[in-house]
Amino acid sequence: MARATRTTSSPSPAAPAGGAAPVIPARGLRKQYGDFHAVQGIDLEVRPGECFGLLGPNGAGKSTAMRMLAGTSQRTGGELRILGIDPEEDGPAVRARLGVVPQQDNLDEDLTARENILIYGRYFGLPYSCLRPKAEELLAFAQLTDKADAKVTDLSGGMKRRLVIARALVNEPALFLLDEPTTGLDPQARHILWDRLYRLKEHADTLQQDLARLVAEGHVTAPVTQLTRRASLEDVFLILTGRTLVD
Ligand SMILES: Nc1ncnc2c1ncn2[C@@H]1O[C@H](COP(=O)(O)OP(=O)(O)OP(=O)(O)O)[C@@H](O)[C@H]1O
Ligand SMILES: [Mg+2]
Repeated sequence: MARATRTTSSPSPAAPAGGAAPVIPARGLRKQYGDFHAVQGIDLEVRPGECFGLLGPNGAGKSTAMRMLAGTSQRTGGELRILGIDPEEDGPAVRARLGVVPQQDNLDEDLTARENILIYGRYFGLPYSCLRPKAEELLAFAQLTDKADAKVTDLSGGMKRRLVIARALVNEPALFLLDEPTTGLDPQARHILWDRLYRLKEHADTLQQDLARLVAEGHVTAPVTQLTRRASLEDVFLILTGRTLVD
């Protein structure tokens, strides 16, 4: 059975009691394949700005749970909302707002790194005028500018993983789901990957702080969800690698 791990992001004193509404409330989430119970009732509550992880041995049901959260696999029991939407009622609306990095890379091997990002962006209906600069930005973010015109088959495992992550950001998702993003990578590739994810989190934190400042100065009225302290992905990494699994 998978366990859930979160880096706490305590509401700031400015936030009213009760805190922000969860972006993922799940209760009794279940998945059965025939008679087999792959996920046997997970309760989750992920709030804006939180990093949330699922821990468990092989076969515990982590990927199955992730696919239900990503709106690509139907639950067989329980309640689930993603960003306020039930994925079974409006899967496309949920998927449009998510970035998903599956456990198995699913890049188009016949395309180049840049084309993978462009074509993926087209699935979201984004125009090429937006996608072209976005693709360059994401390739740079993933340190793949030099490989922009290389076919996926010519990329290393670590490069492919970074490309999957970059591609998943093309629609500027409100929620980012990563299933074992560093599996199979050597220490150097793993380090680069966590560095990229850490920067992403920092960027999100900066935006949150700017918004909190504008609210404090009375320029805008924003949801209280924006006023919580953000935890870093490094915290998550330390918990996952340094403590929880050892304890
Ligand atoms: N499509 C499917 N049909 C039948 N059983 C499945 C299917 N997908 C997954 N399972 C089973 O569900 C269980 C959970 O699989 P899942 O891939 O979610 O585990 P996991 O926790 O992600 O494991 P890992 O750490 O190896 O990635 C496993 O016993 C697996 O065999
Ligand atoms: Mg898995």
